[in-house]
This record gives sequence, C-alpha cells and structure tokens, in this order.
Amino acid sequence: MKDPLIVALDFPTEIQALKMVENLLPFVKNFKVGLELFVSAGPQIVSKIKNMGGEVFIDLKLFDIPNTVGRTIEKLLELEPIMITLHILGGEDMLRKAVEVTENYRIKNKKETPYLLGVTVLTSFSEEGFRRSWGVSRSLPEQVFFLAQLAQETGLDGVIASPQEIELLRRGLKKRLLIVTPGIRLTKDVKDDQKRIMTPKEALEKGSDYLVIGRPITAHPNPSSVVQEIRSQISDILESRI
Ligand code: C5P
Repeated sequence: MKDPLIVALDFPTEIQALKMVENLLPFVKNFKVGLELFVSAGPQIVSKIKNMGGEVFIDLKLFDIPNTVGRTIEKLLELEPIMITLHILGGEDMLRKAVEVTENYRIKNKKETPYLLGVTVLTSFSEEGFRRSWGVSRSLPEQVFFLAQLAQETGLDGVIASPQEIELLRRGLKKRLLIVTPGIRLTKDVKDDQKRIMTPKEALEKGSDYLVIGRPITAHPNPSSVVQEIRSQISDILESRI
C-alpha cells in the first residue's frame, strides 16, 4: 500500500506553499497543487516541490472540449505529476481523449503514473444544493455513481468522491477504480465549506485509497503534529492492508 496521505496546498503564494512543504516533508510526500496555487505560483511550483523531494498531484479539475483538454494534459505531463484531475461531466469524448494522451505518455516513458482521476460531485455540495444547481432528476449519490460508471467505461484510473459514497462505488462498480477522498475532517464539528465529511480512519475503513486533507493540517498552528496524529489514528488500518 502506497502512502494514502495527500496534503492540499491551498495557498495564495509560492512562499507559503513551499514553507509548508518544507515543514511537512519529513512526514508527508504527496502534495496537491490546486488552481489557486497553480495560478499564483505558475507551473514551476510543481518542479520546485519535486526538487525538494515531494510528489505532486495537479488538481485543476479540467473541463473543456476534448482537443483543449488533451493538449493541456500533454503540457501537464511534462511536469511529471502523480495525479491529474478532470470533471467527468466533461463527457465521454473529453475523457477518452484524456485517457489516450495519458496512456501514450505512460507507455512511452514506462511509468505507472500519473493517474487520471475524474471528479464526480464536489464534496462541497449538499443534497439540497445539488438539487438546486444540477438540474438532473437523479439524487446526489445516484449522480456520483452514474459519473463513476462513465469514468470506468472511458478508462480513467479513479474518481474523486466524498467518503460517504465509497461503499456505493465499491459495491456497484465492476472494475476496481482508485477512490480519492477529500472532505476529510478529524472531528465532525469542523466542516469549513465541506458538507459530506468523514474522519481519516472512517474513510480508509470504507475503502478509500487516498485521503486529500487541506485545512485540518495546513490551517493548524502545528501542521506536522496533525499529520502525526492522523498517522497514529490510521496505522492499524494501513498495516492490515499490506
Ligand atoms: O481544506 P480541505 O481539506 O477542505 O481541502 C480539500 C481539498 O480537496 C481542496 O483542495 C479542494 O479543492 C479539493 N477537492 C474537494 N472536493 C472535491 C475535489 C477536490 O474538496 N470533490
């Protein structure tokens, strides 16, 4: 089992992000660079984190016409990330194009990564908010499952979903897709803008492969102590998975 912990570097500046990487590197290897940091620091932030010894998940949640997404992914692949995200809602053609470009790269470079991950329904949606905004007759979990099926059919490596949907996905999907879960909170009382949350231990017990954790670590006065706390909470589960 690879290390399931991924820290979301949702910072407005490169200085803040690299300081956090430096602080956490003895304890965490995987870092997620999202839109905010990618835009403020530029793509070179990825190489900087890699040069320090980290691995980078590029989370830009792409959603555009197939040609634009394919060509953007080609550019992202040059940065050698471990994961890339795109919205499954972008549709079958966009997903197939993304898979084709990524697979060609992996074969040519004899690499297992990056994994191509599809966003289902963002964990910031509640059932009610989903109903008001999406305009589909399916319930939120049904929509997550529908999108995960499309991800599976088009050859994506995994999906981003709320930990609350893991059981549904594991039960219903034919292939074993990677399930990456944000919406992780150490206690149930601090949610920020996340609506569908779970603790790290619960999410792994349900079958999550990777946990994306941002503010519970990065907004804490002592981030590395939170990482160590999480590691101690999940150590027995990880041992049982080896
Ligand atoms: O700070 P927090 O732990 O809520 O950060 C969660 C991270 O996961 C953010 O970087 C957010 O962009 C990302 N994310 C999410 N929900 C998804 C996909 C990604 O919250 N469905």
